[in-house]
Amino acid sequence: MVWRMRLSDDELLALDRRHLWRPYTSSEDHEKRSLFIVDRAEGPWLIGPQGQRVLDASGSWWCNNLGHGHARLRLALSRQAEQLMHVTFGGATHEPAVRLASELLAVAPRGLTRVFFSDNGSTAVEVALKIAFQYWQQNGRADRDLFLTLPGGYHGDTLGAMSVGAVDEFSGVFRPLLFEAARPDEPVEHDWEPVFESLFSRLRKDGDRIAGVIVEPIVQGAAGMRMYAPKLLAALREEADKADTFLIADEVFTGFGRTGPMWASDHGAIAPDLLCTAKGLSGGVLPFAATLATERIYEGFRGGKERALMHGHTFFGNPLGAAVALEVLAIYREEQILEQARRKAARLAAAIDDIGSLPRVRHPRALGMCGAFDVGDTGYMGKIGWEISDAALELGAHLRPLGNTIYVVPPLNIADDDLDELLHIVRKATERVLVKDS
Ligand SMILES: Cc1ncc(COP(=O)(O)O)c(C=O)c1O
Repeated sequence: MVWRMRLSDDELLALDRRHLWRPYTSSEDHEKRSLFIVDRAEGPWLIGPQGQRVLDASGSWWCNNLGHGHARLRLALSRQAEQLMHVTFGGATHEPAVRLASELLAVAPRGLTRVFFSDNGSTAVEVALKIAFQYWQQNGRADRDLFLTLPGGYHGDTLGAMSVGAVDEFSGVFRPLLFEAARPDEPVEHDWEPVFESLFSRLRKDGDRIAGVIVEPIVQGAAGMRMYAPKLLAALREEADKADTFLIADEVFTGFGRTGPMWASDHGAIAPDLLCTAKGLSGGVLPFAATLATERIYEGFRGGKERALMHGHTFFGNPLGAAVALEVLAIYREEQILEQARRKAARLAAAIDDIGSLPRVRHPRALGMCGAFDVGDTGYMGKIGWEISDAALELGAHLRPLGNTIYVVPPLNIADDDLDELLHIVRKATERVLVKDS
């Protein structure tokens, strides 16, 4: 059976505007802003109903690490679909999830030995927070009930994830519903050392109260692709150890080679106590996530029913997601994805650096296959980023700015020509808007 889009573009847009409620989008923008209709996608390309092609610069929200429609992922998905699409994990098990857990742990930072599956980045974080909290509650340290975080962290949109997040544009209105978490003040001009110093002094002073410290290792995504030095992450590991508390690495965005090595934690040569992964875990194909934990933590849940982790999701370990994630790991090994990305990262960094020489462009930065720069005042509500995004769409790239931060996170295996074209479009679109405005 061949599936065909039966709606005209106008009909589709009218129904979209009539019935959908879009994420992070005002109703006015939903009614007025242009939308790119995606009919298909291949590699880094999104393809419209009339065959128009634009490059997917945001990796379909930072998850499309292997390009769209990777033939091996399609095959893994369809084969698994023929055999088993879903089954409960209560009292049953299946090979894709079991094999995935063991293969994932084999490439995870040292010391992580247990996998708890869920279905998106936010739930992976919720699980990590609940594990850390419950661990102390039932192991004689109920006073450890406070989480420490970095300013500007983003960990998802569920209530727990928002509580430890700090991007006010996302969570400000919900503050009264959130639990308390402590965080230092914002860095001034990307200077992170004082921020970490303040985090360390809080750990030294109140270590006994801290259930865990949660960070996005090395790159804070939603705060505007903000980057800090690996030595700060390494020092945080040491301080968390001294306070005997848990370090939770939210690798939902940074994992699976986005910043160079498999995990951003590897930049600091550290292993967290809990690690959250999603997005690239399933190659950006299906909602699928995992929280990894150490054996020490798992041991803290022994001792009977009332000490079990009381958390679960209908689609825990879903066979389709697990089969695709297994194939993702095989592709990383067999197509040397990290090695490919290392070579391309140098190209990306050079182009971003070059864009940095344009007037009014600030803080060009790149790490692995993640490049970003700021235009005008930073901030999520900034408008210039959206003007650049509109210009880029005309030129053939789909950007999704974070306010006035422009970023690119292309597939790690993007062809060099496509990468060059994408970076060229980003430069041209930026120039067009900034020169017009200056
Ligand atoms: C670091 C980080 N954690 C958690 C999340 C939440 O993931 P999801 O959107 O899959 O719930 C995101 C999403 O962008 C993220 O960047």
